[in-house]
This record gives sequence, C-alpha cells and structure tokens, in this order.
Amino acid sequence: MIRLEKVSKHYRTAAREELALRAVDVTIDEGEFCAIVGTSGSGKTTLLNIIGGLDRGYEGTVTVAGNDLHAMSDAELSRFRNRHIGFVFQQFSLLDHLTCEQNVLLPFHFLKGASDAVGADPVKRAREALTHVGLAHKFGESPRNLSGGQKQRVAIARALFFKPRILLCDEPTGSLDSTTGQQIIQTFRDLNAEGYTVVIITHEARVSTAVRRVIHIEDGRIASDGRTAPAEGPVS
Ligand SMILES: Nc1ncnc2c1ncn2[C@@H]1O[C@H](COP(=O)(O)OP(=O)(O)OP(=O)(O)O)[C@@H](O)[C@H]1O
Ligand SMILES: [Mg+2]
Repeated sequence: MIRLEKVSKHYRTAAREELALRAVDVTIDEGEFCAIVGTSGSGKTTLLNIIGGLDRGYEGTVTVAGNDLHAMSDAELSRFRNRHIGFVFQQFSLLDHLTCEQNVLLPFHFLKGASDAVGADPVKRAREALTHVGLAHKFGESPRNLSGGQKQRVAIARALFFKPRILLCDEPTGSLDSTTGQQIIQTFRDLNAEGYTVVIITHEARVSTAVRRVIHIEDGRIASDGRTAPAEGPVS
C-alpha cells in the first residue's frame, strides 16, 4: 500500500521558490491500477518521484509497503526501491551498444547481490522478464533495431527484473504513436491483472479510460479522485 499524508514539496531555485505539492493526502491500495492526470506543471512527476523514493526533499509522511520513506537511510531507500518499485519513463533510456538482455541486466550490475528475487541466475531472470513482455525473440538484439513499442517493452522488462510489486510509470506512451501506446497500456493492464500495483502518469484520455481510478492533480493539489469501472476488452 502507498500512503501519502500531508505531503508538500517546495522547489527552491536561485530565482524563485515554488510549492509543487500542497498537503497531498492519498492512499493507493495494493493491486490498484490508477492514472495520475493534470496539466503540465501540475505536480504529477513530483508526486511520482516522491512515491518512488527518488525525491526525499518533501514535508509530510510517505509510507510504501509499510515503510516510512523518511525513516530510511540512503542505502536502505535504494534497497527498498529495488525490491518494491519498477520505474518506466517516457524516454526508454536504453543503451544501444548493449543487447536487450544486457539492458535488462543493467540494474543487477549496478546493485550486485541487492535482491534475492533474481535467484542464482540473473541472465535467466533477464530472459524471463523479456519473455514476459513478448520479446523472447529479441534477447541478443540491440535496442537500435527495435520499434518504439518494443523499446518500451525492454524498459518494462528492466523494471520487472527485481520482481517489484509496484510499477510507477511517467508518461510511458508519450513517445509512441497511438496504436503502439494502446498496446503498451494493454501490457500494463495485463501486469495489473497479475497483481502488480500500477500507477501511470498520462496526458491521454484513452489511458484514463483503461484504468480503475483517475487521480486528477491541479496546482499541486488533488482536484478529484474517482474510481470507475474500466472499459472491458482491449483499450480503444
Ligand atoms: N527540479 C526542479 N526545480 C525547480 N522547480 C521544479 C523542478 N521540477 C519541477 N519543478 C516545478 O514544479 C512544478 C511541478 O512540476 P512537475 O514536473 O511535477 O509537473 P508535471 O505535472 O509532471 O508536468 P508535465 O506534465 O509537464 O511533466 C512545475 O511548476 C515545475 O516548474
Ligand atoms: Mg511530468
């Protein structure tokens, strides 16, 4: 479960100070599939980065899977992130001189021994993750030779590598055409059906019809937070 209590975020730069989140209270239960929507600059990325433990400079309390993020040291927080959270961004951030398999293995090389989830064979785990997103035929390929949707799938496989319970996605379809974007959203729906908690920032209405809950942020506040029955079948 993800719980934010009175979370505020100030950005201070030489030129200005800005309140990007204003006493946000929100709870996201395990197994939810929810969208965060709102205009540019409303605070969506700020919120997601705080939930994911990427940003510690906030006021209030954030609890994820029973852990108060403020109470953790940097090392504990980074272990926590690897165990619990997978990130997917608009930019796929893949390395073209590596194979898909090597890209998925990157988090393991950064954090050798950081997780038991991988078991004894990290290459096998990387292949499982790629197979999970339909790329069993691309283990040895460079991402350079893949379509945009396939690249995002490699990035999703990388996010799945440590078997996290929560996927945090910041505009994951933002660089894709609409058909490919729909396929990626369907992949997140499938992952949610398998039990992953999925939180997606999006500008696109068609994503927010696929999810069960839409949290609308405006000017650093939750403007509305509604649960709906998701449309059945593939995203249209
Ligand atoms: N590193 C930063 N330093 C200073 N101000 C920042 C920083 N990051 C974000 N902000 C400010 O905080 C506010 C919220 O930014 P945020 O990135 O969370 O918006 P967003 O809703 O994700 O927007 P977009 O849809 O354009 O990605 C914005 O007004 C932005 O200018
Ligand atoms: Mg953003």
